[in-house]
Amino acid sequence: MKKTFAKLMIVFAAALLIGAPQAVQASDLKGDLEIFSWWAGDEGPALAALIDIYKKENPGVNVINGTVTGGSGVNAKAVLKTRMLGGEPPDSFQVHAGQELIGTWVKADRMEDLTPLFKEMGWMEVFPEGLIKLIGTDKGIWSVPVNIHRSNVMWYVPANLKKWGVEVPKTWDDFFAAADKLKAAGVTPLALAQNWTANHLWESVALASMGADNWDALWAGKLPFDSAEGVKAWELFGKVLQYTNADASSLSWQQATDMVLDGRAAFNIMGDWAAGYMTTTKKLVPGEGYGWIASPGTTGEFMFLADSFGLPKGAPHRDNAIAWLKVLGSKEGSDTFNPLKGSISARTDTDLSKYNGYLQSAAADFGKDRVVGSLAHGVAANETFMGGFATIMEMFLKTKSPDAAAKACAQLAKKSGI
Ligand code: GAL
Repeated sequence: MKKTFAKLMIVFAAALLIGAPQAVQASDLKGDLEIFSWWAGDEGPALAALIDIYKKENPGVNVINGTVTGGSGVNAKAVLKTRMLGGEPPDSFQVHAGQELIGTWVKADRMEDLTPLFKEMGWMEVFPEGLIKLIGTDKGIWSVPVNIHRSNVMWYVPANLKKWGVEVPKTWDDFFAAADKLKAAGVTPLALAQNWTANHLWESVALASMGADNWDALWAGKLPFDSAEGVKAWELFGKVLQYTNADASSLSWQQATDMVLDGRAAFNIMGDWAAGYMTTTKKLVPGEGYGWIASPGTTGEFMFLADSFGLPKGAPHRDNAIAWLKVLGSKEGSDTFNPLKGSISARTDTDLSKYNGYLQSAAADFGKDRVVGSLAHGVAANETFMGGFATIMEMFLKTKSPDAAAKACAQLAKKSGI
């Protein structure tokens, strides 16, 4: 009897051990780790969750969460440039996959090659080949992707549309028909915020106007910006702007989302970090508190971008930074970060059961849609183009001249090596 009891206890203890979560292997790393990004305030919770994982694994490291507020990195990128040129890089910084990384920091020879890390961690097998191409050159791999965001999404509140008797628009013509009705009822048809969100809106409108093949051709230097297609995109954009709020330039992207949520506006076109904001910060249930559809005229197209972090040459705490990159690329890190952020995992082995209804639909679309790269968020063009484009946008918002904007883009493309 005693023997049987002892045996039982051993089996019980073994079962407990197997069932117990794997104990975290704490490293003996010491000193600081400065992480630089624009994920401040409302954009912070997903990053904070990643930092929590890092702290558990590296309890001796003092993490400095260096953020510079401003959607899409408008302010952070300027600070980063000053620091990098002044020889004071952070240990690791946020940068978009694509030309923002390759055509800017890699071209200037400011990044460390992470190929050995990708091999050590088995990441060559878990990140999609197409994405690795966007963060790599023939000389190396230059950052670790943390997510896939979708740029071309239109957001609304289903109950409000019902109240106003308005359908969700599939095309811009549908939108214009609904917009006149909304205007008459005193509702702003499309909420817009500060100027970078105009760039964001422009890319969705341009994709609808010219189609995915022409969009790709534009960035490959095969379709001139001042072609008929290029001018037409600006014309449609000008028309869409007539249905936006007059105080746009003084609002953050979150405030434009708020306009939709509290019924001052009907729609907003924003990347799916807006889903993160509405779910994580506003505690709304996707499909109930907010609805979504591909921005008008882009059904079946997924305009994507990916946030990533790199290791600048001369990072003051290189080992701590590498440990940080390991957390970012891990399955646990990815599936903790993305459900809060409003993005899907960049890893192919992601656990979709951890993601809400919106994100599951985004993952399904990413798997079947035509995927194109975002301009406003670093995939399509380098920082030289982006800087110039912001100026062209400011000019267009004042003059509303499609021809002048298209011509200026053509000149800028030449100057930035497109
Ligand atoms: C994008 C970035 C997103 C989100 C957004 C708004 O550029 O990729 O993760 O932060 O800006 O700030």
